[in-house]
Amino acid sequence: MKQITQAAELQQAVAEARQQNLEIGLVPTMGALHEGHLSLIERALKENDVVVVSLFVNPIQFNNKEDLEKYPRTIEADLDLIGHLETRLRGEAKATQLLAFTPTVEEMYPQGEPTEVYHFGPVEEVMEGPRRPGHFSGVAVVVRRLFDLAQPHRAYFGEKDYQQIAVIRALLEQIKYPIELVPCPIVRADDGLALSSRNMRLSPAARAIAPAINATLEQAAEMAEYEDVDDVKEWVLDTLASFHEVNPALCPDALKFEPEYFEIVDARTLQPVESWEAAGDLGAVGCIAVWLDGVRLIDIVKF
Ligand code: PAF
Repeated sequence: MKQITQAAELQQAVAEARQQNLEIGLVPTMGALHEGHLSLIERALKENDVVVVSLFVNPIQFNNKEDLEKYPRTIEADLDLIGHLETRLRGEAKATQLLAFTPTVEEMYPQGEPTEVYHFGPVEEVMEGPRRPGHFSGVAVVVRRLFDLAQPHRAYFGEKDYQQIAVIRALLEQIKYPIELVPCPIVRADDGLALSSRNMRLSPAARAIAPAINATLEQAAEMAEYEDVDDVKEWVLDTLASFHEVNPALCPDALKFEPEYFEIVDARTLQPVESWEAAGDLGAVGCIAVWLDGVRLIDIVKF
């Protein structure tokens, strides 16, 4: 693995790779890597000749200053994890070059804070979009910049941020870059909790009950066989909101789940569906955001 901090150096490495007709995979991250990120990097290493992993906490996608300040920055540990993965995959990976791109904010945005704004219509008008104004535009700005610098053939994103994938798909349609978007399945802890850099902010007691989110969603998927969309939605929200009443020993009032939303949407358009039959070619997906212990957790279930 080679660490690169300068945009020009990345561009040069990529230009050389392109000249040799090598295929490039990009894994954009904000660092604080966990097994979920490593699964994306592993897949990219198996499918490309050159892999660029970016580690950059993008300030313009945070609409909450405190969230930006609290975002874990663990660059040395991240580089170690990437290095170990590379060693573990020796002989199995297709890639012969692994570049870890770790720019500063000034390097990413040399002209100062970008002023460009992206709009994606209906896919950003639901769930996370209205709750985090400017977030998806900020994601699009940095992802486009990364596309420009890394010139990838494929870009890898985790399905935990399901709406982000729909937004990147819409971005690619807008800018018409011939990049294959590769959505990758959520990686979960043994107890089912979706891996997230936010999990490290949970107290041990909150971490112990957090798997109830996935357990509830899994039960919802079973209920979908015989219940209609509205009933499943209501059941998920009620089950989590009343978890502390039903399980007082496990979950004192101070630790109650506070669901922000649970929407059952068309997996492609992200528009709410009123019946299971109304979902299009990709089916329906349930997307949830829940507060627990002052931490906002998100997860999904495919129906
Ligand atoms: O998903 C993330 O970690 C970020 O939104 C991304 C795609 C790396 C852009 O900063």
